[in-house]
Amino acid sequence: MERYIIDGSRVLSGEVRISGAKNAALPIAAAALLTEGAVIYNCPDLSDIRVCIDILTSLGCKCDYRSNVLSIEPYGISCCKITKELCARMRSSVTFLGALMGKCQRAELYCPGGCALGERPIDIHLEALADMGAEITCEENGIICKGALRGADITLRYPSVGATENIILAAVKAKGTTILRNCAREPEICALADFLNMAGARISGAGSPVITVEGVERLHRCEYTVPGDRIEAGTYMCAAAITGGELFIRGVDGAVMGAVTEAMQATGCVIKESRSLIYIDAPKRPAAIDRIVTEPYPGFPTDMQAQFTSVLSKAEGMSVIEERVFEQRNKHIPELNKMGADISCTGGRYFEINGVCRLKGSVLRAYDLRGGAALAVAALGAEGRSVIYDNGFIRRGYERFAEKLSDIGAEISCEEINEA
Ligand code: UD1
Repeated sequence: MERYIIDGSRVLSGEVRISGAKNAALPIAAAALLTEGAVIYNCPDLSDIRVCIDILTSLGCKCDYRSNVLSIEPYGISCCKITKELCARMRSSVTFLGALMGKCQRAELYCPGGCALGERPIDIHLEALADMGAEITCEENGIICKGALRGADITLRYPSVGATENIILAAVKAKGTTILRNCAREPEICALADFLNMAGARISGAGSPVITVEGVERLHRCEYTVPGDRIEAGTYMCAAAITGGELFIRGVDGAVMGAVTEAMQATGCVIKESRSLIYIDAPKRPAAIDRIVTEPYPGFPTDMQAQFTSVLSKAEGMSVIEERVFEQRNKHIPELNKMGADISCTGGRYFEINGVCRLKGSVLRAYDLRGGAALAVAALGAEGRSVIYDNGFIRRGYERFAEKLSDIGAEISCEEINEA
């Protein structure tokens, strides 16, 4: 357990460098299993990445990770089973399902852990794998999946990010061609496809609603640089917006920010962006936004909902946010209300945010990754001191969080504490 101590109301300014995208690095590290070796540059140093390395190592890979470079040698894979303990530590362990099926025609794992955002089933993943010929048995949260996979024409019921990744991974070395319809279009899907194509895969259509994967015999060794994390970048934009700051955010492609940039502009921020830099200049107080609805990409990302809720809690006027992706992504709301925010939450997913002039520093608790980041954003914009108790959530997704914020003028420190 750690706690962040934040003295708010400092105007942020300067330059912040964005790390590689967690949600791209994780499936790419799993994809390395299918290659003859991979070097992944700009791989962020996050606890989720450490879990991923532990999983790869437990399967028999040789991994070396230093200075944000992860090398994976997938020789001598001795096992296709991931332990319950490792699966519980990270939801993305489910991405190994497709990678292991592609590698060993067998995968054994447990229902994934990760943030508690309500029900997070994996039925869409399993149905699609069954369409490709997998034989699946589930008992006591354990899943055994086996069989030689063949290409199939698959339509997803919902454009699930994880299911899209899993099917791509399962299909790259399957016999025949897989057509995946109504798939997720997130930039992280494109990154995964780019990585695999560099290793010799034949994937087309990533970023569109239909992806085609022609199975190949082998994938060779390759090197890849993970693109910047659009959610980390968006979080720093929120930190600028709530403090009336001005930031240069480097290392992320402005083109992938889409709906986030639009929403930021609607709060009155001036934004300029290029392929590797975002400039944001925020007004003293943000303007309210009539309505934000979270949706699959290119819609407004659910992973930015909580941080925007913090910004809008201090906006001038009434805003509405509707969370359509996850049913229980709302644990930050009562914490924000402790700080003096005026937010009502109906049905767990519909938030009416009546902007207040000031938030006051408070003692808070993080319940999930982005919710934790949202509390930090609110604390940066609050008067006085906040203490955020965090059981490792922020560390799952933000590299050097307190350090990067300190460098742009925040008063923030992080200390380890004994489990209370
Ligand atoms: C990924 C991201 C996560 C982000 C989410 C949505 C990673 C490691 N995580 O999560 O940060 O918040 O996309 O952008 O990349 N669903 C089902 N059945 C399934 C799969 C999903 O009902 O088999 C539902 C989920 O419960 C959820 C919705 O679909 O309500 C979206 O889930 P999905 O797109 O799969 O998200 P993840 O891949 O878990």
